[in-house]
Amino acid sequence: MLNIDDFLKEVDYALDVLHRHSKAHSTEDSLTDDEKKQSQRVMRVNHMGEVCAQALYRGQALTTNDSSTKKTILKMCDEEREHLDMCDARITELSGRTSYLNTVWYTSSFFLGAFVGRLTKDKSLGFIYETEEQVEKHLDEYTEKLPEKDKKSRDILLKIKKDETRHKETAKDLGSKSLGDQTKDLMSYSSKIMKKISYYL
Ligand SMILES: [Fe+2]
Ligand SMILES: [Fe+2]
Repeated sequence: MLNIDDFLKEVDYALDVLHRHSKAHSTEDSLTDDEKKQSQRVMRVNHMGEVCAQALYRGQALTTNDSSTKKTILKMCDEEREHLDMCDARITELSGRTSYLNTVWYTSSFFLGAFVGRLTKDKSLGFIYETEEQVEKHLDEYTEKLPEKDKKSRDILLKIKKDETRHKETAKDLGSKSLGDQTKDLMSYSSKIMKKISYYL
């Protein structure tokens, strides 16, 4: 049963994720206006993905009964936090903005994570495996969308991808069980909608 202290701690954590501001400055001037706009959109989508990663893993860590799984998830969550900050800093350099709907994405992802944390350990790890697998594919797709000249954003996405691959392998090593095709499709479909919306909003 969730106690009030844990709940308040999560609210505090969520507010920090949603309201942190990068100390970076607007510096990007090698890109044309159109290129910059394109990079802003791509990085906004990635930032949204990292907001969701924070929420999913916080939710999952909160409800899981297995202490070793919890430890693993919180360690991954710390790395996702670095990804979040890297995307945030790059968006600032590009004079862009994060998604208006991050609070909605965070809240829905948190409850999904909390639900998944109550599943059996192998399925809970299977969810991490599938999430990271889909994120890997997404990163390949969105790296392609970056303007040719935007090496800085591309390097960030490549670094993030390495971590996500490691997260996937960790879930597998700990005994993840593959999710059903319908669940995988549902995850993929809902993330596509979120990405489409965040690209503009
Ligand atoms: Fe990440
Ligand atoms: Fe990850």
